[in-house]
Amino acid sequence: MTVSARPLFGDRALFPALTCAAYLNHAAISPACAPVVTAVERALHDYAANGAGAFLRWNADRAALRALLAQWIGAREEEIALGSNTSRGVSDIALSIPWRRGDRVVLFSGEFPENVTPWQRAAELFGLELVFLPAELFFTEQGLERLEQELKRGVRLVAVSFVQFQSGLCMPLRAMGEQCRKYGAELFVDAIQGCGAVPLDVEAEQIDYLSCGGHKWLLGMEGAAFTFVRQSCAKALRPYTAGWLSHEDAESFLFAGAGHLNYEKPLKQTAEVFEAGTSSLLSLAALRASLPLLLELGAAAIFEHVQRYHDALESGLVARGFESLRAPLPEQRSGILSLRPPPGIGLVPLATALRKRGVMPGTPDGLLRFAPHFANALTEVPRVFELLDDALAELRAA
Ligand SMILES: Cc1ncc(COP(=O)(O)O)c(C=O)c1O
Repeated sequence: MTVSARPLFGDRALFPALTCAAYLNHAAISPACAPVVTAVERALHDYAANGAGAFLRWNADRAALRALLAQWIGAREEEIALGSNTSRGVSDIALSIPWRRGDRVVLFSGEFPENVTPWQRAAELFGLELVFLPAELFFTEQGLERLEQELKRGVRLVAVSFVQFQSGLCMPLRAMGEQCRKYGAELFVDAIQGCGAVPLDVEAEQIDYLSCGGHKWLLGMEGAAFTFVRQSCAKALRPYTAGWLSHEDAESFLFAGAGHLNYEKPLKQTAEVFEAGTSSLLSLAALRASLPLLLELGAAAIFEHVQRYHDALESGLVARGFESLRAPLPEQRSGILSLRPPPGIGLVPLATALRKRGVMPGTPDGLLRFAPHFANALTEVPRVFELLDDALAELRAA
């Protein structure tokens, strides 16, 4: 596939294989863009031709990928661990914090289960108390007020999603980070629904831990993710699981001759301790290829572009009787625009009718979710409405 590698707003040239009228499901899985396809093909062909020789080449790219990810979220390279999915990163953190029995953890009801289940496991194993606040409270000031009340009672950690997967509400991370610091709690963020479409800076937001998969807004493939661990927190972690690559000087016994096989080498005291074994270098190659596109466009400009698309889409949908869940303030918004269908229109039949016509939304938790990215053109929106009207007419006639 030979396509110019420059990303342009509103231009699908980097997605030449995409045939639908409007791909609006980046909150689920991104289609592979041309640079991703090329990188994965190159890596795969290298493996086919060279086996372990290919491993050495693609493995060497890991440091470059960590650097790109660090740049994207304002972290330091040594604070990034490459991983396989968001869930694994949440579990790594949840099970490795040096908990004290009775520690309280604040979670948010309405969140994607992956930011709840690992904390429930940690609660069982370490005797933690889980406190749930409704995520929807954060549409107003009430959310931060409730959080502060809990923090005053003593909280060890707050675990929140950057963006709520169903409503698209962008949580007030900066204010939450400040509150956590003030009351001596740590802040964990599941960033997968925001990172890539909404600016994020772990320093400004005072985030201590973060986990993020690469296959949504970061435009990579499933099987590649990353975890951020603030260096000042990393030293205190007690990794609940570890593997051969978790040790310092982990690989010399394979490449530096005899005498290096030693099971007593210390575990790394950085995020990298979670890179326990071999991983999918093909998925990491995909992420390594997509990140430069995002860095070239910039998170703030991607956010603005997506908001303009949402503005156009939302007004037309509301005029057709949909109920929008979009947050009132710009800083509460994200790449996700979710709506309830008009009375009498079933969500699943509507989504099916739209997909049949080439409009690709998501349907989380009873909502119709539109999630465009940089390549979606504003000029696409009138066609989306044409196809939507056709779908609604079909459903009303049935
Ligand atoms: C907020 C959120 N977290 C996590 C995930 C998925 O986690 P994982 O990367 O482990 O599949 C999703 C969606 O798939 C999500 O919306």
